[in-house]
Amino acid sequence: MYDKHFDEVICFINTYEKLINCHIVDFITENLWETCLPDPLRSELEKNEINCDYWTENDNYPILNNFIKLTRSLSLQSCSIEIDSKEFTHVLPDVGNWKKFKCKSAKMDFMNAKKLHEVESLGNIIGTIAVSTDNLVIDAGAGKAYLSTFLAENHKIPVLAIDSSQSCSNGAICKQKQLKKKMTCSQNLVQYVVEEINEKTNYINMIKQRFCDWNINRNLILTGLHTCGSLTHSAIKTFLVTEDIRILCIVPCCYHLTNETFNRRISFSKNARMLAQQCIERSTKNKIMPSSLFYRAILQVILRSMGIYDARVGRGGPLNDFTSYARWAFSRIGVKPEKILSEEELINVYQLYMPIMKKFYVFQMLRVHIGLVLEAAIMLDRMIFLQESNGCSKLAILRLFDPVLSPRHYGIIAIK
Ligand SMILES: C[S@@+](CC[C@H](N)C(=O)[O-])C[C@H]1O[C@@H](n2cnc3c(N)ncnc32)[C@H](O)[C@@H]1O
Repeated sequence: MYDKHFDEVICFINTYEKLINCHIVDFITENLWETCLPDPLRSELEKNEINCDYWTENDNYPILNNFIKLTRSLSLQSCSIEIDSKEFTHVLPDVGNWKKFKCKSAKMDFMNAKKLHEVESLGNIIGTIAVSTDNLVIDAGAGKAYLSTFLAENHKIPVLAIDSSQSCSNGAICKQKQLKKKMTCSQNLVQYVVEEINEKTNYINMIKQRFCDWNINRNLILTGLHTCGSLTHSAIKTFLVTEDIRILCIVPCCYHLTNETFNRRISFSKNARMLAQQCIERSTKNKIMPSSLFYRAILQVILRSMGIYDARVGRGGPLNDFTSYARWAFSRIGVKPEKILSEEELINVYQLYMPIMKKFYVFQMLRVHIGLVLEAAIMLDRMIFLQESNGCSKLAILRLFDPVLSPRHYGIIAIK
């Protein structure tokens, strides 16, 4: 079912290879508008006055409209399911009415709004499945164990929380102690392990040691909220080889932290992975591209003229005007004060490039749309691997969170 979609995604990626692999910082210096846009699309955009409102349907731009429609049809939106939908009940017929078990995490007020939303949404699904099936949950990459604590406290489920970071685990244990006064059972139900999960991880030994009364018998769920980098791959591989784990439900994130793919037909550049991280909902909602990106592209022109080719400027500069930004950047990269351009020179350079700001915005928005397809490629690679393992009876991509609040909002669910 995912194969055809994946083939189309690969075809699209090959077509827009240049637009994907370029670096927006080089927009001016490498003349990306001319070199990366397909001719018909560029001519259409140039024929009309460039504006920043293209992203809703507009008859003046048929080629652009088709491009946008194509990116949307290839995105995960078109092959994923809503958790309140009928399809979801087909994926999990044994679970019954999961809405009945929805809990609000009122007592866990130390989480920010984003984390609270994620923990409640995923936690209620995992919690309901675990209660209905009498399963123990493994929380892979538990971090501060917010999800684990939610599951224990609100659904009374035993949770093995694993994280490779000692400091995360210390933080989680500390938080548990603070909570102990308010809450009752999570201290005993959540057990922490500091260990790096890889494809050979033996969860069974960990459970035997920490939950000695638990009778392991195909009654384990493997979950992870924002399993970053290669943790997603390790979770998928260990799920497939560990007979007693019947259900996998993970929400991957940080696509740029790994270059692993299951399918040899694809490999992604760092730029492509970064692009897959973009959030179209946020970009279209905000309408205006952060000025830091445009400032950085202009700064690149100045840096090149000074013979500086490998500057790492980073984020966090002042964004009220270009000259303040440029001065901040010069000091970050250690340019000698005598080499720095005067205020007037900086203003002149800025004014020279100001007229192409709209083009820059449009170019980046095209790339943000491509990000949807890249995210689909990364996730479909994983779905097809699970599908081809022949070990899963049910498999789906879930839409779990509000994307504006939490951009990495797609989860993978697999049931053996
Ligand atoms: C993005 S954070 C998410 C933390 C937590 N699940 C949450 O939502 O708050 C990813 C966590 O996974 C942990 N991690 C990354 N790779 C791991 C691995 N191979 N084994 C165990 N933990 C890992 C990191 O230390 C980090 O705490």
